[in-house]
Amino acid sequence: MTGPAPAPASWQPPATALELRALAAQRTAYAPYSRFRVGAAVQASGAVFEGANVENASYGLGVCAERTAVFAAVLAGARQLEAVVVCTDASPPSSPCGACRQVLAEFGPEMTVIVADAAGHRCIYTVRELLPDAFTPAHLDR
Ligand code: THU
Repeated sequence: MTGPAPAPASWQPPATALELRALAAQRTAYAPYSRFRVGAAVQASGAVFEGANVENASYGLGVCAERTAVFAAVLAGARQLEAVVVCTDASPPSSPCGACRQVLAEFGPEMTVIVADAAGHRCIYTVRELLPDAFTPAHLDR
């Protein structure tokens, strides 16, 4: 019996709406120092919030894309985030830094994290995979 021809190794599925929003956000990044532009799009209850990295001449003050996206969502009232897409030019795609993993865990312990590069390669994780045994609000209930 013959099945469908296998997809070529270079083939990637078309970008989802959330991925397109993260790609659009990547273009808004302010990254004159690292020249590493990052875009993020967070989904919560049908709404999407974009973020991008914003650097500063005082280097340590820069903020990652994931955190600007999460903070935009939280400022709009979202508290339970469902998914985030992070786009960079790194290939294979780079995954969120440790600080961002902690911030994602605060508002989306069950969330899906998709990292993508410009060629459409993706890696898909859960926040739990990226930050096992996270410090959570529950630890503050003494
Ligand atoms: N960056 C992000 O925006 N997200 C990450 O998860 C890793 C790093 C930014 C921070 C800085 O502006 C640039 O990428 C290089 O580190």
